[in-house]
Amino acid sequence: MPGERPRAPRGTFDVLPPESERRERLRALCAEVLAGAGYRYVETPVIEHTELFVRGVGEATDIVRKEMFTFADKGGRSLTLRPENTAGICRAYVEHGMHKWPQPVRLWYWGPFFRHEAPQAGRYRQFTQVGAEALGSDDPALDAELILLLREILERAGARHLRLRLASLGSPATRAVYAEELRQYLKQREQLLAPEVRERIDKNPLRAFDSDHPSTRAVMAQAPRLLDRLDADDREHFACVRALLDAVGVEYEVDPTLVRGLDYYTRTVFEFESQALGAQRGVGGGGRYDRLIEELGGPPTAACGWAAGVERILLAAGDQPASESHVDVLVATVDAARAARALTLARELRSLGLRVELGDSRRALRRQLRHADRLGARAAVIVGDDLQLKRLADGSQVAIGGAAEVVEILRTQDPSQVGQEAS
Ligand code: HAM
Repeated sequence: MPGERPRAPRGTFDVLPPESERRERLRALCAEVLAGAGYRYVETPVIEHTELFVRGVGEATDIVRKEMFTFADKGGRSLTLRPENTAGICRAYVEHGMHKWPQPVRLWYWGPFFRHEAPQAGRYRQFTQVGAEALGSDDPALDAELILLLREILERAGARHLRLRLASLGSPATRAVYAEELRQYLKQREQLLAPEVRERIDKNPLRAFDSDHPSTRAVMAQAPRLLDRLDADDREHFACVRALLDAVGVEYEVDPTLVRGLDYYTRTVFEFESQALGAQRGVGGGGRYDRLIEELGGPPTAACGWAAGVERILLAAGDQPASESHVDVLVATVDAARAARALTLARELRSLGLRVELGDSRRALRRQLRHADRLGARAAVIVGDDLQLKRLADGSQVAIGGAAEVVEILRTQDPSQVGQEAS
C-alpha cells in the first residue's frame, strides 16, 4: 500500500545492538564449550526437501502437520524452511558417508529455524537454535556428556531457575505396543478429554501428556506409563545414563510424562526448562534417535543430541548490565585535508588492540568530539598540525607523539580497559 511503512513479518524480529552483541557473546561461549569437547561446527542448508521432515520428524507431529513454511520451487518440488536440524544433520551424515569417519561424529551448529506458530514471548516464527549432535555411538556416557554440555552453556550464559526433566522412550517396538495400550485407556475416558486430544487418540496418543486441559490432566495422571514398559536393554541403558548423571552431580527429575514433539526419539529424552520464562518454558532439549539415520537410507547408526533456543536462553538470563562502550577511541581531524593521516593513525591504533572509529573529517571538530562523547569513547585523538589526545571523562588534553603513546596513556588510566591483546 502506498505510504505504508514496511515492517518485519509477524513472528520475526531484527536483532540490533547491543542485543546483537549479547548474542555474539553467547555464540562464542557455545563455540568454546562445544569445541572444547570435540564438537566441530557444521552448516546445512536452510531449505531442505519437504520429504526429509515428513520422514525424519514424523507425519503426525505438530511441526509437520501445522508449522512448516513449505513452498514449491520453480521446478514444482516441495521445499521447506527447516523447522529443526536433526533431520538435516542425519541427511548430511548419510549423503557424505560420514559413517566412514571416526565414530562418533560430533557436530555443532547455530542458525535460523522456522516454525509457523502463534507468536508470543519466547515463541517466534523465525528463531535461532544452537545444537549439538553425536552420531555413531549408543554409549550412555554420550547422553550424559551432552546433557552436561548443555547445562554448562545454560549456566554460564546466566539462565536462571533451571530444571532438567529426563525420561526414556525405549524402542519403537515398545512404544507401538504401549501406544495401543494408551489408546484403549484414552478411548475409555474420551468424554473427559480436551477435543484436540480426542482428535489425536489414533494418530499420536502420547501427546495427550502435553495437554494443560484440567480433566485431561487428571486422566493422564492415572494413565499407564511408557517408563514402566521398557524392555531390559532400554531399562539398563536408562539406568546407566542416570547413574552417570548422579555421579557427576547433575540434578534431574525423572518425568514419565515427558514426550517431545518429534517422532524420531528412542531411549533417552531430556528437556531443560526455566521457571524464569512464561508459557514457553523449554529452553533446550533433545535425546537419542538411534533409528533415524537408517530411516534416511544410511547404515544402522545410534545417535544423540540436543538443540536450545538462543532467544529463550537470553530471556532466561534476564536483563544484563549495560555493556561498556563498543569503541575506545575516536580519531578526529581539524579539517578534511587530514583525512589520510587520520585513516593511517586509526589503523595503527587498531593494530595495537584498540577499538577505533574514524570521525567525519568534513564536520567541525566540535561536532566530532560531541559524537565521541555520545559513543561513550574514552578518548579522542585529534589530528591537526600535531597530535593531541583528549580524555573524554575530564576533558584534559595532551600532545602525543604517536599511536603507541595513546595505548600507554589509556593503560595507565585504567589498565583493565585498554587493548584487547592485554586481556
Ligand atoms: P525442540 O524441542 O523442538 O527440539 O527445539 C529445541 C529448542 O528450540 C526448544 O527448547 C526452544 O528453546 C527452541 N524453540 C523451538 N521452537 C521455537 C520457537 N517457535 N520460538 C523460539 N524458540 C523455539 C529440536 O528442535 C530437536 N531438533 C532437538 C534435538 C537435537 N534432538 C536431538 N538432537
